[in-house]
Amino acid sequence: MRIDKFLSNMGFGSRKDVKILLKSKTVEVNGEVIRDAKQHVDEVADTVTVAGEEVEYAEFIYLMMNKPPGVISATEDKYDETVIDLLGEGERHFEPFPVGRLDKDTEGLLLLTNDGKLAHELLSPKKHVAKTYYARIEGHVTEEDGEAFKSGVVLDDGYQTKEAFLKILQSGAESEIELTITEGKFHQVKRMFESVGKEVVYLKRLSMGSLELDPELDLGEYRYLTEEELTGLKEKK
Ligand code: URA
Repeated sequence: MRIDKFLSNMGFGSRKDVKILLKSKTVEVNGEVIRDAKQHVDEVADTVTVAGEEVEYAEFIYLMMNKPPGVISATEDKYDETVIDLLGEGERHFEPFPVGRLDKDTEGLLLLTNDGKLAHELLSPKKHVAKTYYARIEGHVTEEDGEAFKSGVVLDDGYQTKEAFLKILQSGAESEIELTITEGKFHQVKRMFESVGKEVVYLKRLSMGSLELDPELDLGEYRYLTEEELTGLKEKK
């Protein structure tokens, strides 16, 4: 790949920025100063340094975002802001996409990556990756609802849901719950509660497989996954 693309991908700004950087004679490939933006480098075999610091090439990007409400889980949208719009240029040029969708009004954990293989594995219905949601529900949520979710409920389109686990945090006129499901049907949590005559008034995803939402992330913020989080996700899902 060209050195300007390599450095741009690694967060050194646009190709124009990289051209200026190259002019400053601080970029070396295998110990030789490089000034030509068109120069090719082998991302694996060559050693690239900028101002003496080695730049290791990473092909994939893995981010966790605390998705805010009002933003669409898509790479582009005609009318609304997307989760990709919330990323900086340094991340956007890797062309990440959201792994699965959260509704426009849903908040919480969203994984963004350009690693299609991992995304496919996490989303595959065969893998039964568990997703846990926190929700506030209008109406009293009961142990019977928990039993119903455990054995599976029938959604408005006739689909019978798989085993799901309900934890009642507080039951009242407005209840607070956590629900763990292993599938990802459209509006699944909302439709599961509809099937027992209740309405979700607030929904937030807390975890996906072994990956948990970092409580330090404010709405709209994101960060890179740690090595440990990534390994956990790849190994255990
Ligand atoms: N279930 C829903 O109803 N909405 C979401 O965004 C995610 C799960």
